[in-house]
Amino acid sequence: IPALQGRSFIAEKDFSREEFLFFIYLAEKLKNEKKLGIPHRYLEGKNIALLFEKPSTRTRCAFTVACTDLGAHPEYLGKDDIQLGKKESIEDTAKVLGRMFDGIEFRGFEHKKVEMLAEHSGVPVWNGLTDTWHPTQTLADLLTVKEHFGRLEGIKFVYAGDGRNNVANSLLVGGALVGMDMRICTPDSLFPDQEFISLAKEFAQQSGGKVTVTSDVDEAVSGADVIYTDVWVSMGEEEKFAERINLLSPYQVNMEMVKKTGNPDMIFLHCLPAFHDLETAYGRDIFAKHGMPEMEVTDEVFRSRHSKVFDQAENRMHTIKAVMAATLSDLQ
Ligand code: CP
Ligand code: NVA
Repeated sequence: IPALQGRSFIAEKDFSREEFLFFIYLAEKLKNEKKLGIPHRYLEGKNIALLFEKPSTRTRCAFTVACTDLGAHPEYLGKDDIQLGKKESIEDTAKVLGRMFDGIEFRGFEHKKVEMLAEHSGVPVWNGLTDTWHPTQTLADLLTVKEHFGRLEGIKFVYAGDGRNNVANSLLVGGALVGMDMRICTPDSLFPDQEFISLAKEFAQQSGGKVTVTSDVDEAVSGADVIYTDVWVSMGEEEKFAERINLLSPYQVNMEMVKKTGNPDMIFLHCLPAFHDLETAYGRDIFAKHGMPEMEVTDEVFRSRHSKVFDQAENRMHTIKAVMAATLSDLQ
């Protein structure tokens, strides 16, 4: 078992391949135990703070249920509940929370905040999504791929859509870390920052993985095992709606793209929430305004046999549980 006790979980790049794979192995074990009704109360009597500056369904519920299953108490603190970085410094808030809680989850905007919480709280801090990274998502995605294909090494994994968001950064680096053939398919103007491409290339060299960033859909999806997409407009950039629709329409995941893989057994993944049915989700106004009933993925693909998005959503819970158990308990 790698030494993970006492560590924070901030970004994929902070872990070795062995450590990252251990979280996935542990999640598989915990998932199996849960299905069999075997208790795993590794965190009995611990208290966990859940800080959310942005909304969340999966991440919040995953942390809450995982805490309860592990015997810990979760305390949700929304953006108006505490004064983080507004009427109280991040440093002071971190020190106070660290005196009362055994671990802290943070979801918010600037990545710096989660790093400061980890630096000053003295307890493990887990990144539940920032503008830069979404590493607990990566673990759930990799678990889903492993469950489906029985391996991660060499899996041809395409991420199509907004190449500059948190999920793209995390998958690029996390996928390369575990030896996948990572292909980011996005327009030139949305290529990931060089920093993330370089990191991924370094990891790929060590793991035997591969990294491609291209605007060419045909090149990216040829032979793909997985096509993954995320929303075209992330939380906090809502004013970019029209611009992104223009830029990203050719990168929509639809049946034509699925067929181009030439792989009848490919799977479709999406971190969710998804804009595959705008009219139902938002009403007729937004549909009329943007002239597109679907955005990053068509309803047809979303509901097809290729789609594993709800396995993926469930796996958020098992993987987040593994992160908390591995970093807070000694797993004796
Ligand atoms: N995938 C994900 O992080 O979902 P939530 O925003 O609902 O937590
Ligand atoms: N890129 C998306 C992910 C949501 C889970 C966002 O940041 O809004």
